[in-house]
Amino acid sequence: YRRLRVALLGAGAVGSQVADLLLTHSAELADRAGAELELAGIAVRDVHAPRDVELPAELLTTDAETLIVGSDIVIELMGGIEPARGYILQAINSGADVVTANKALLATHGVEIFDAADQVGASVYYEAAAAGAIPIIRPLRDSLAGDRVQRIMGIVNGTTNYILDRMDTEGAEMADVLADAQRLGYAEADPTADIEGYDAAQKAAILASLAFHTTVPLQAVHREGITSVTKSMMDAARHAGYVIKLLAVCERLTGRGDDPAAEAISVRVYPALVARSHPLASVHGVNNAVFVQAEAAGDLMFYGAGAGGVQTASAVLGDVVSAARRHIAGGVGVGESTRAGLPTVDIGQVVTRY
Ligand code: NDP
Ligand code: HSE
Repeated sequence: YRRLRVALLGAGAVGSQVADLLLTHSAELADRAGAELELAGIAVRDVHAPRDVELPAELLTTDAETLIVGSDIVIELMGGIEPARGYILQAINSGADVVTANKALLATHGVEIFDAADQVGASVYYEAAAAGAIPIIRPLRDSLAGDRVQRIMGIVNGTTNYILDRMDTEGAEMADVLADAQRLGYAEADPTADIEGYDAAQKAAILASLAFHTTVPLQAVHREGITSVTKSMMDAARHAGYVIKLLAVCERLTGRGDDPAAEAISVRVYPALVARSHPLASVHGVNNAVFVQAEAAGDLMFYGAGAGGVQTASAVLGDVVSAARRHIAGGVGVGESTRAGLPTVDIGQVVTRY
């Protein structure tokens, strides 16, 4: 096999599992990818920090910039905007394909990154950036490219679903359960992103952009988190036959303004009352679920682990195999370039019970 040089940026909850799987499954991955994936190094902040899995000390470095040089595939799992953005642009401009799980970055700088990739014929893969292990990016971008998506409704943040579920089933306190979610590696480095709905809003913007072939700006996403949800609200909801879930709803709207045919997009994230009989009420723990309603396909449902190191590593490695296959085939970019399309309008919560 031809050997491809892989640089990994980050060895936290997800990155350490990706490194471990790349090393332990190297022969199998080479067969799948058609190329040997040589893990050239792993960039971290502190080479002596404790890791979830033991990694070869000689692979750890604090010099991400040098590690990227000459790499064929760069996997960004640091999170945050900078320096992740700068490293991704460096990787693209040096001819590498990029794999990232960084929804915060893609929801804010996606256009810049995809444009940079298009200019040099590189590809950016990001299956893990929405709903953890669940394959949802490719289905929306590729499998449903010939259909017209009308609506996406889902639970897209694992931490908040884990918290709300334990508040509902055990009467637990939000602060205690959040600490567990952090310990288990579900939460963002700053968990405010989870509980205030920023993370779900970033994912909703990414999913809506793909589903509606447009660019949904993060500022246009209506966002409410779960910090106002109390135990007594959970109890009241339960007695009325509902459960409170943080939902992301992305919809195509018709008949905007004076034009009955005009279309726009609404993207909103907020805690909603979900009837106990609704399938979304049965999404427990750290799991996520995404319903997609498309004109021809009808109703589709995607379900699975929404967060967690090894679960998310599955989605990342799928992208790495795709990147390797494309790289050795000398392919061109996957065509994510700037899309001008339907406008996004903030129409607030609109419906609070499902
Ligand atoms: P962690 O905070 O656990 O890990 C981040 C890693 O990046 C650490 O190894 C850290 O180094 C390294 N790092 C951070 N900043 C720098 C820097 N400036 N220079 C060098 N290294 C740096 O994050 P996660 O693994 O949880 O998440 C990674 C990405 O995956 C994020 O974008 C997140 O949103 C996304 N994601 C996470 C999921 C999850 O379940 N955790 C699920 C889906 C997506 P050090 O260890 O030395 O501190
Ligand atoms: N913090 C995120 C969550 C990680 O809980 O869903 C997965 O994107």
